[in-house]
Amino acid sequence: MWRCPLGLLLLLSLAGHVALGAKQGRVRQDLCCRGRADDCALPYLGAICYCDLFCNRTVSDCCPDFWDFCLGVPPPFPPIQGCMHGGRIYPVLGTYWDNCNRCTCQENRQWQCDQEPCLVDPDMIKAINQGNYGWQAGNHSAFWGMTLDEGIRYRLGTIRPSSLVMNMHEIYTVLNPGEVLPTAFEASEKWPNLIHEPLDQGNCAGSWAFSTAAVASDRVSIHSLGHMTPVLSPQNLLSCDTHQQQGCRGGRLDGAWWFLRRRGVVSDHCYPFSGRERDEAGPAPPCMMHSRAMGRGKRQATARCPNSHVNNNDIYQVTPVYRLGSNDKEIMKELMENGPVQALMEVHEDFFLYKGGIYSHTPVSLGRPERYRRHGTHSVKITGWGEETLPDGRTLKYWTAANSWGPAWGERGHFRIVRGVNECDIESFVLGVWGRVGMEDMGHH
Ligand SMILES: *[C@@H]1O[C@H](CO)[C@@H](O)[C@H](O)[C@H]1NC(C)=O
Ligand SMILES: *[C@@H]1O[C@H](CO)[C@@H](O)[C@H](O)[C@H]1NC(C)=O
Repeated sequence: MWRCPLGLLLLLSLAGHVALGAKQGRVRQDLCCRGRADDCALPYLGAICYCDLFCNRTVSDCCPDFWDFCLGVPPPFPPIQGCMHGGRIYPVLGTYWDNCNRCTCQENRQWQCDQEPCLVDPDMIKAINQGNYGWQAGNHSAFWGMTLDEGIRYRLGTIRPSSLVMNMHEIYTVLNPGEVLPTAFEASEKWPNLIHEPLDQGNCAGSWAFSTAAVASDRVSIHSLGHMTPVLSPQNLLSCDTHQQQGCRGGRLDGAWWFLRRRGVVSDHCYPFSGRERDEAGPAPPCMMHSRAMGRGKRQATARCPNSHVNNNDIYQVTPVYRLGSNDKEIMKELMENGPVQALMEVHEDFFLYKGGIYSHTPVSLGRPERYRRHGTHSVKITGWGEETLPDGRTLKYWTAANSWGPAWGERGHFRIVRGVNECDIESFVLGVWGRVGMEDMGHH
């Protein structure tokens, strides 16, 4: 079978028409592949070129010397001046994206691609799904095209608390003698309509504001017995809680709770998330909401809602935040009695790929260079727990938690993670709070 002689190809494509004359008389029709022979192919300019007689009709992905070498006639098109990809010819310096990496057509007509680790890594997805890890991985389309570094920089955004804050007094919840906690619990079943769905932080590294607003929303709703059910505004925190906080570049949980207690925030409807694109230059959007004291620690807004279609600019506040012990029973009891809690979490490269099941950090990237094994600090809302027996007979205990990567990620925006072993630090810094609810809040609305 005839195969494109690569030397000839390069000579021809570099020298163009000049080479044609020299090659007259070298017609070797008998050596060219007859009919359509898809395996009569050769890598060429980062793509595959075909050298069979089918090329007599189509030019898109055929070897450039097919015409003169096989048929002895000049090609019916000018010599290729660039690189080929996906049946298209790109000029020198032309580019295309291969997931998160940009490929550029070089002077020598070869593609050269960046070699960044991507957030969605098909090899990692395959390795996780073939391993017996208790969870499934997939391609979350919003992450396609991002680098792993961008995922760590833009999709998390909680600053690990200082050791002083880490050592914050824990409240010891004591289980009564003989008290048995249920094997499964879900906040949305105990408090229907009072547990809010996950929001999407987009490329804003503001999980500190999203998880705080999410836990506060549920707790205000639960503690007001459903008289108030606001979705509280992460943007209010991102833009206005600026003391030692960095908005969409990260922030602290203790600072966020201080703000919710002393200043309060309005609803997400009143002060919607404005989102911020990655690498967007310039200052953060200015704060568009302020509050003033109105006696007894309560506050009221001094500005209209940034969303001009909304009139209700009620300010919601909480009581001082408290830290729970790291024992899973204490966290469970608090969750069952008072509602969802906030948890710090160390996010590793494989977590972005989570599609369902009971997550634990896998070793699939262990053999790869350091830059493929990245992690960053995040925070989430824990909403319940349960147990599941896997096909192999193992029983896994888990937490259910809400993330802030929108409803299309994971299990409808939620995930389950192994419980009781401080997986990814999820039991190391867990916070609860009470909604600030006065008698007057219970009356009207
Ligand atoms: C190539 O195509 C032309 C026009 O359709 C045809 O006349 C010619 O015989 C073909 N050559 C070969 C080698 O099949
Ligand atoms: C992942 O999803 C994106 C967006 O939907 C798609 O363009 C891409 O081809 C997918 N990649 C894989 C490997 O499935």
